[in-house]
Amino acid sequence: MNMKEKLLKKIEEKNVVVGVVGLGYVGLPLAVEKAKAGFKTIGFDVQKEKVDLVNAGHNYIGDVVDSDLKKLVEAGILSATTDFSFIKDVDFIAICVPTPLDQHQQPDISYVKNSTAEIAKYLKKETMVVLESTTYPGTTEELIKPILETGSGLHCGTDFYLGFSPERVDPGNLTYKTKNTPKVVGGVGTEATEVIATMYRAVLEGDVYEVSSPAVAEMEKILENTYRNINIGLVNELTMLCHKMGISFWEVVDAAKTKPYGFQPFYPGPGLGGHCIPLDPYYLSWKAREYGFHTSMIESSMMINDKMPEYCVERAGKILNNHEKALKNARVLVLGVAYKQDIDDYRESPAIRVIEELEKEQALVDFYDPWISQYKEHGKVVTGLSEITPEIVAGYDLVMITTAHSNVDYEMVQKHAKAIFDTKNVMKNLKDRSNIEIL
Ligand SMILES: NC(=O)c1ccc[n+]([C@@H]2O[C@H](COP(=O)([O-])OP(=O)(O)OC[C@H]3O[C@@H](n4cnc5c(N)ncnc54)[C@H](O)[C@@H]3O)[C@@H](O)[C@H]2O)c1
Repeated sequence: MNMKEKLLKKIEEKNVVVGVVGLGYVGLPLAVEKAKAGFKTIGFDVQKEKVDLVNAGHNYIGDVVDSDLKKLVEAGILSATTDFSFIKDVDFIAICVPTPLDQHQQPDISYVKNSTAEIAKYLKKETMVVLESTTYPGTTEELIKPILETGSGLHCGTDFYLGFSPERVDPGNLTYKTKNTPKVVGGVGTEATEVIATMYRAVLEGDVYEVSSPAVAEMEKILENTYRNINIGLVNELTMLCHKMGISFWEVVDAAKTKPYGFQPFYPGPGLGGHCIPLDPYYLSWKAREYGFHTSMIESSMMINDKMPEYCVERAGKILNNHEKALKNARVLVLGVAYKQDIDDYRESPAIRVIEELEKEQALVDFYDPWISQYKEHGKVVTGLSEITPEIVAGYDLVMITTAHSNVDYEMVQKHAKAIFDTKNVMKNLKDRSNIEIL
């Protein structure tokens, strides 16, 4: 049997051992799904704490069901390690490590490089390797392939299969999870695509869509995220214009979305957050420069979105001004530091930028987030209020809503706050709007 036949047989018989490298928001749910589908799965991470938690059956990711993880660990189907030598025991490897930006907003691909170099040391013949981290088009073939080939002495296509399959996880989404979200796969060569896609089909309920190369799959992921980034930039810009014109942009979107085709609603807010939408388009801009090409729409959108925290604080200053107050020494309560509703992730959160901007103006800021008790920024730990009561809310000059969490008693907040700046329009259904201003 050749490599393709052997791997297809192993997939059919569920004899593939899966390795997931990077056990974060993407990797842990993926490892759990593979294990739930009956594949023995080993998670690899450089953080010993995460490895210990998994091996103790303790979940730390919101989208994973605690009891699923516990059961799989107890049954010996799922385990985790910091020891990459176990790579020699796996037949399928998914790389799910971070792809952040460096301080100059350029791709920091070091996590991908380092994890791939570790994998290469132990890679055995007849293994499928798939990168899932979001990155610039070309990464799989130009960066990963040579590291794997040089480090292992094996040849891509004849000794192992390589591909890219972007992760689409949307933390907190109650309908679409890793299991039922359609997946795109692009391998180095048609055989790689076919075998890797077969492996995903054996695990997922969502469709698996095959494309002709890793670069197409890498580019389509960036298209998805750039599409969101640019549309959010557009609505943020129009919101600023509408405010000047005395028009509520929220009402405009609600009206526009009655069109049954050709329009998808996006909503304004204090800026972009998370590990994807604010970062990924920069991966493309950076790569585009290699071709002497400027991604002007990405740049324009970034300029607008990056300005939103400052703009929101300017607006907060005007609201306080109407109450005969200055930002300086004003007591401001920021509601929500998560980058989006109903999750505990504050990476790149615009709310934290809003807090920084408020503090630059010497406002006295506290935050409350039902999902996050403290956050760490620039090495400093900031602790939030443990609860909000009518007395606590009444003690602030301004309440600024920066995340649309659903488990906050907004009616109580409205009743007791002196002034509210609702940047997410979460209070839209409240009747008494006398103290509310929306973005
Ligand atoms: N979080 C999301 O919503 C989301 C959605 C789609 C795609 N993505 C993409 O998926 C990738 C991973 O994102 P995430 O949110 O899961 O990140 P994360 O920070 O939650 O998890 C990454 C994990 O990788 C580990 N790691 C770092 N270096 C390693 C190494 N050399 N070897 C092994 N493990 C290592 C880290 O310790 C961490 O546990 C990124 O490229 C991201 O853009 C994320």
